[in-house]
Amino acid sequence: MIQHILSHIPQNHPWKDRIHWFPTIDSTNLELKRMAQQGAPHGSVVIADRQTAGRGRMGRSFLSPGGMGIYMSVLLRPGCPPQQLMHLTCAAAAAMCDAVEEAAGIRPGIKWTNDLVYNQKKLAGILTELGIDPKSSLVDYAIVGIGINCCQNVKDFDPSIQDFAVSLSMCTGKTVDRSAAAASMICTLKKMDRILLTGKKQILDQYRQDCITIGRDISLLRPGCPVQYGRAVDVDDNGSLLVQFADGSQEAVNSGEVSIRGMYGYI
Ligand code: BTN
Repeated sequence: MIQHILSHIPQNHPWKDRIHWFPTIDSTNLELKRMAQQGAPHGSVVIADRQTAGRGRMGRSFLSPGGMGIYMSVLLRPGCPPQQLMHLTCAAAAAMCDAVEEAAGIRPGIKWTNDLVYNQKKLAGILTELGIDPKSSLVDYAIVGIGINCCQNVKDFDPSIQDFAVSLSMCTGKTVDRSAAAASMICTLKKMDRILLTGKKQILDQYRQDCITIGRDISLLRPGCPVQYGRAVDVDDNGSLLVQFADGSQEAVNSGEVSIRGMYGYI
């Protein structure tokens, strides 16, 4: 598979000799974290056919069967304060919309912050993780992990998620080349990396265009708080969701579980 992926990446691509492929790994994010701690360079990429301990947001697991999805993590070493990377997940999500459009000819939407969706169903998830250098307080490494459902049919998903999940093949009605799609992901992430710190406005403008949460009624579940209801009105320059509550107050929300009314079961 690695040869197929490489065949879709231009010869002079600066990350081309930093791509590591595994038939099975616990988690590409975990493997890349181990590699980062051993000094792996900026632009290192880990891809696996299958993960045995794929991880999602909020400590959830991410089912990662072999031959079906694309499980990829990319290592960035921007060397900046963590406050300058608040928009990283948004940047990665917009880059993944570009990759899907390039590879499959459809543009998914983004459910704030980190889900790619198509026809109201989840196509992909993103998990970003930062390591901070305790001496300098700067980012030592940032890992962007992406899992995209690629070749599944409905029956390939666990029954518990069959109503909410979709794959690129299901969206397009065609077989999607996983290697070509993985190569597109690497190339669009590289483009994102080039403007990550200097092109924040451009990145967030694109994110706002793709984000389907804006303008929708939502429920918000934050640890230790009762569920709150409101309307998502915008995404701010840090990637936080601006929520307006019934009493007219507004809050910039940067964590918690946001459900959109009419989607994934929030009716
Ligand atoms: C989510 O939907 O909550 C995020 C899912 C992120 C899954 C990807 S798969 C590749 C990378 N390795 C992991 O263990 N997780 C991410």
